[in-house]
Amino acid sequence: MSRKILVTSALPYANGSIHLGHLVEYIQTDIWVRFQKMRGNECHYVCADDTHGTPIMLRAEKEGITPEQLISRVWQEHYDDFTAFHVAFDNYGSTNSSETKEFAQGIYRKLKAENLIEVRSIEQFFDPVKNMFLPDRFIKGECPKCHAKDQYGDNCEVCGAAYAPTDLIEPFSAVSGAKPELRNSDHYFFKLSADTCQQFLREWTRSGALQPEAANKMQEWLGAEGENKLTDWDISRDAPYFGFEIPDAPGKYFYVWLDAPVGYMGSFKQLCAKSGIDFDTYWKQGSDAELYHFIGKDILYFHALFWPAMLQHAGYRTPTKLFAHGFLTVNGEKMSKSRGTFITAKSYVDHIKNTEYLRYYYAAKLNGTMEDLDLNLEDFVAKVNSDLIGKYINIASRAAGFISKNFDGKVHPNHPSNSSPLLDELRLEADTLSSHYENREYAKAVRLIMELADRVNAYVDKEKPWLLAKNEADREALHLACSTMLEAFRLLTLYLKPILPQTTQAIEEFLGIASMSWHDWPSYLKPTQPINSYKHLMTRLDPKLIEAMVAANQESLQPAAPVQSEQRHAAHQQNEVKKEMTETSKESESYISIDDFMKVDLRVAKIVNAEHVEGAEKLLKLTLDIGEEKPRTVFAGIKSAYDPEKLKGRMTVMVANLAPRKMKFGMSEGMVLAASGEAPGLFILSPDDGAQPGMRIK
Ligand code: MSP
Ligand code: ZN
Repeated sequence: MSRKILVTSALPYANGSIHLGHLVEYIQTDIWVRFQKMRGNECHYVCADDTHGTPIMLRAEKEGITPEQLISRVWQEHYDDFTAFHVAFDNYGSTNSSETKEFAQGIYRKLKAENLIEVRSIEQFFDPVKNMFLPDRFIKGECPKCHAKDQYGDNCEVCGAAYAPTDLIEPFSAVSGAKPELRNSDHYFFKLSADTCQQFLREWTRSGALQPEAANKMQEWLGAEGENKLTDWDISRDAPYFGFEIPDAPGKYFYVWLDAPVGYMGSFKQLCAKSGIDFDTYWKQGSDAELYHFIGKDILYFHALFWPAMLQHAGYRTPTKLFAHGFLTVNGEKMSKSRGTFITAKSYVDHIKNTEYLRYYYAAKLNGTMEDLDLNLEDFVAKVNSDLIGKYINIASRAAGFISKNFDGKVHPNHPSNSSPLLDELRLEADTLSSHYENREYAKAVRLIMELADRVNAYVDKEKPWLLAKNEADREALHLACSTMLEAFRLLTLYLKPILPQTTQAIEEFLGIASMSWHDWPSYLKPTQPINSYKHLMTRLDPKLIEAMVAANQESLQPAAPVQSEQRHAAHQQNEVKKEMTETSKESESYISIDDFMKVDLRVAKIVNAEHVEGAEKLLKLTLDIGEEKPRTVFAGIKSAYDPEKLKGRMTVMVANLAPRKMKFGMSEGMVLAASGEAPGLFILSPDDGAQPGMRIK
């Protein structure tokens, strides 16, 4: 009987590009979905961009566009990337949709009616310059434990301590650099600590919906029976925020993680509208349809606790299973921009083109656990060339020529009834392979398929068609051997179809057969149906392409020579914000656009005053006229190179739109530019004669 299955992958954030790490998940899911469809199950695969939250709002602001413009541009980029990797969603939506909004507000209303929403005033850091409350990741300061500078508001990257932003020493806003203030605000909480939630989650997490490792983690988070370790979940954020407004709560928005998983429903609803599927069949409580979420281990908490609790108490069905996977490493290490291993989907496509190589490699490494998996670039080339091309594709090229040249492109007429021990062996594995796919044990499936390919190649080496072809008396034997090879190739192709959809399609055309389903394994190539002439199905992967890709992704490590340490700090801060907001590799591309450049407001400045600063070793205090009402004060680390007296009256160049930075000696309102290199010396810039204070440099 055909199963009804709804499958999702996590919704990628709309503030960064898809990279090879993401693709582990989308490829893993897509293979599973293709397998289910091949089995004849009614299987739907939906996903969407995750579009809300502070980072997206700030990034749009920075780019001078609306959040809607930003997310629609990124949506297209993501969609194109997925298409290139043959990730075939039945619907790819956006959480910023009317469908998602309706479900999110509906769920909230039901939770409220169930008495599971509570309003509480909390104290939180507020940025008085940006006029907004700051998420933890946008607050930085000195670690209260190890005193490392420049640590995020939630944990220290140096010593690993976790703390509240209020514990930071000398906190500052990573958005504006301002000192944040503590302010009170009403927040809306989902009462996860309520007995009904704890009880339900305790049962649900033990029900078999989670992998054993995940279930154990959940027990840790839930605590022992009666321990009530779960705390209430803060689901609101204050304006300004890019998201959905909470009903009857002006100025309050749903926290992005509230509506993100609801995006699964929103996207599916869109699919229902365009294809006539009944939404309730999949989502009503007690539904007999299956619901699977593929996710990374980093977002287990949201999917195993918050999400099922929301669904349960809002009257929907809960997920059948969560399939969590591990993280991608490249050459045994975390993906890194400086090593060039932070590789975007786009950059892979630009350099390597054939995305099925990666699908194959990931499949060869994936299993049903949460273990991390490694993309070893040398091994990648080796596996593609020796397995995919050497063992598999070559079978077709070895057989096809003889069949089309000598036998009119037709396989042997007795072929189907010809009992072939080789083909029997291959057919025997259909069920085993099927259960490997079902259990997401793709590595096992690939290993077995390659073993079968080895046996086919052993058969070819034994039959030696190239010798048979030399002797007219061996024509019959040649025809049978090559027909067997082609049928074996068809079977291997069927087994690999979920992994290699595009190559499979080319092979189906070449063999002159209809699109194969899993149930086609017992059928044979038809002796009456000629195969088409063989064309190259896949080329070898040239390691030079990998080298070029890595080089292109390698971020230059040349530091921009900042004028002084305090300003380096400010620049670093800006960088961090950018990193936080893009998360991925916009920066890894070695060119910037003219728009990027124009974001830096460079001005001709007249140094109206320059003086020493008491207690500062490196700084001079400059007063700069850039044609504004009030001159700017800038602290510049040029004391070692310049006598302040000689600077007075000189013209120079300053960055006028750098966020003001509070320093020990006062506010610094910009940065002057200076050149430095290997050789000693520090040189500030001067414009040519005639330039006036305030002129823009572009
Ligand atoms: N927006 C959230 C998910 C919301 S789902 C309701 C999110 N987005 S993400 O873009 O950061 O990640 C999307 C998925 O990609 C997550 O499942 C995440 O675990 C996965 N991966 C991101 N980087 C990865 C690796 N380096 N390796 C493997 N998977 C990775 O989380
Ligand atoms: Zn620390």
